[in-house]
Amino acid sequence: MSSIFSSVPTAPPDAILGLTAQFRADPDPRKVNLGVGAFRTSSNKPYVLPVVRRVEQQLADDPSATHEYLPQDGLQSFCDASARLILGADSPALADGRVTTVQALSGTGALRVGFAFVANFISSSTAVYVPKQTWSNHRNVIPAAGLPRALEYRYLDPSTGAVDIAALVEDLDKAPAGSIVLLHGCAHNPTGADPTQAQWLQILDVVKRRKLVPFFDNAYQGFASGSLETDAWSVRTFVAAGLDMLVAQSYAKNMGMYGERVGALSVVASTAGAEDAVRSQLKATIRAMYSSPPKHGAMVAAAILGDEKLFAEWEGELVKMSARIMDMRVKLKAALEKNATPGNWDRITSQIGMFSYTGLTSQQVTFMREKYHVYMTANGRISMAGLTDDTVQYVADAMKDAVESVVKQD
Ligand code: LMR
Repeated sequence: MSSIFSSVPTAPPDAILGLTAQFRADPDPRKVNLGVGAFRTSSNKPYVLPVVRRVEQQLADDPSATHEYLPQDGLQSFCDASARLILGADSPALADGRVTTVQALSGTGALRVGFAFVANFISSSTAVYVPKQTWSNHRNVIPAAGLPRALEYRYLDPSTGAVDIAALVEDLDKAPAGSIVLLHGCAHNPTGADPTQAQWLQILDVVKRRKLVPFFDNAYQGFASGSLETDAWSVRTFVAAGLDMLVAQSYAKNMGMYGERVGALSVVASTAGAEDAVRSQLKATIRAMYSSPPKHGAMVAAAILGDEKLFAEWEGELVKMSARIMDMRVKLKAALEKNATPGNWDRITSQIGMFSYTGLTSQQVTFMREKYHVYMTANGRISMAGLTDDTVQYVADAMKDAVESVVKQD
């Protein structure tokens, strides 16, 4: 007799997390992990922000802190502070009471709940457009939430490494009214290429003209420019235009809270009135998925967001983390150029955020992994914080060998 589970097919490994598992199992001492987007210190260690550590200690010492459940929509002080962080304390949408914010299991959870909400309360046939180059998990989350598979709009011009705004606008111009357009608020993952402010205004124009509904994914606020304000410009500009939209936030990278799953989802309505109904349905959606979100990370984030001194300290940390990434960009580019690696490597320093989109092909990526034990996603994306002064030359040498030895096929 065989089990009813015998016929379960094995799922392919996740494009990003599968690499981490492969990296861990690799016994080679030279191995370098440039796969998952997780900040590392200059000695290649995970980083707990000192301000986070201090708040955690205070919470641990607080005899009144309990492990009671949060409500389905999470910790209110955290949600309020998160909405202010991304929308701006002076946001007209907040002043009008048009924003409903719930706590979510980091950015993925915010997207998952947001798309389920769209599927259930807008329409399960809503078309969702994602950039042609996008975070691999976007394509998983959308159908998992009950919507059709994502459609694509063109994003990057591979010849320049910059946003192909004409193609992007042309594609969105064909989207049916009411479609969701997924936009990366800043630090586009995987390309590191963001629209300029003028290009954002062109995107806003087509979104308004076609009556599209933006869904902003903000996983890197503070990580692109080092400034929380600058990195929120795109979202705030769209909100100021008075659109219906959704906004996902994650504190994985900018507060280093990766595994604590700290994030938020905001539904921003063009007119006030539906907030109670929207909140009730978001709560019902969450209740059926996981009842209520975890408390620890939200308590820590709320304490930092709600205290001027702690907030300033956090901002200082963001500047330091983004500066370390920029330093690695400069060093990798210099090493590639010193090695006379064929190609133009300007993109390494012109791209922003956590990643560099190297232009390496999937065959070159495989070559680097098999010969040098350097791990990166198949699309040639590298997580810059995975590099250190000790490994940057090794990686540059491996890249040169890959570019010279493996002829481009894709
Ligand atoms: C990444 O793109 O590497 C990160 O967002 C981590 C993840 O969950 O994929």
